[in-house]
Amino acid sequence: MLFLLLVLLTVLVPGGDSDDDFQELSSFRIILTISFYNHSWTQNQASAWLDELQTHTWDSKKGIFMNKQPWSKGNFSNKELTEQERALQVASIRIPLIFQDHVSQWQLKYPFQVQMAKGCELRFGEKSVGFKRIAYQGSDLMSFQNTSWIPSPKGGERAQQVCKLFNQYHEVNLRIQALIKDLCSRFLWELLDAGKADLQRQVRPEAWLSSGPSPGPGRLLLVCHVSGFHPKPVRVMWMRGEQEQPGTRRGDVLPQADGTWYLQVSLEVEAREAAGLSCRVRHSSLGGQDVVLYWEQHRPVGWAFLAVMVPLVLLAGLAFWLWKCRKSPWRPQCTGLPLERNPSSPGPGHS
Ligand SMILES: *[C@@H]1O[C@H](CO)[C@@H](O)[C@H](O)[C@H]1NC(C)=O
Repeated sequence: MLFLLLVLLTVLVPGGDSDDDFQELSSFRIILTISFYNHSWTQNQASAWLDELQTHTWDSKKGIFMNKQPWSKGNFSNKELTEQERALQVASIRIPLIFQDHVSQWQLKYPFQVQMAKGCELRFGEKSVGFKRIAYQGSDLMSFQNTSWIPSPKGGERAQQVCKLFNQYHEVNLRIQALIKDLCSRFLWELLDAGKADLQRQVRPEAWLSSGPSPGPGRLLLVCHVSGFHPKPVRVMWMRGEQEQPGTRRGDVLPQADGTWYLQVSLEVEAREAAGLSCRVRHSSLGGQDVVLYWEQHRPVGWAFLAVMVPLVLLAGLAFWLWKCRKSPWRPQCTGLPLERNPSSPGPGHS
């Protein structure tokens, strides 16, 4: 019997490790976004990121990286950093020129954006992999492999034409390969080491429930808010007892200004079925103690009831007191009432 219980428990209590949210992946990437407004006007923005943490901002006028974290300086040589800066500077001039020259041939429409990302990804227990990709209007256009550009299947005819052109510059592509390799062998590891304390910072989430806009008559949208946690992986489920509710909808995990995260997880139910539901939050900072919030205690009906009843009871009390004091103003709890200070009104013992 005990054995059966144990088996049931292991089946019912899901382990965190099989969960996609807890996939361990680290990456360092440099992102360049080029906005094309018209034939003569483009704007560049660039930044560098270690996982979800910005490590550098880019000064496009001076063509240099600026440290965003106290540890962003890492331990790279000046030469390594300067090489990356120069490469980014060249790309931020060259790519706009190339795209501006082919607006009609590649059927680009103003205003549009071209994004370039390069860096290195590391899955724990596996080799690190360098990458460089270019996107048009937020959708993959092409990626760099070994020494050449490969069109993305989503990019269609346009991707093939852009690749063809970029692959004519073989010398440039060899440089790109070397620079990506550097990002893997030096930058990612250095920054992972330097920023360890920030990356591994554990901050506990705060959670609360609310009801969203009514999805229809007799139905409720239950919303579980989870805020202020770090690191990003979190598991939030709507539960009935130990049963996960299949209709649970998970929003995007959103960044907050202080470097922590926010997530909203909702469930649409029949109003009469809301009782007994709970929101369960599992996060590495909680040390295995999940936060569980029950819907009953947070029913908005309960608050509305209180909001009406509390003032009513107070008013009734006040009315009763006034009535009592008017009848017998000499009672000790009535002193201080304007009636008492009136000299013409009878004081105690004068009646
Ligand atoms: C390009 O766009 C900028 C900013 O919107 C504008 O000031 C400029 O006049 C435009 N140039 C042309 C040639 O349309």
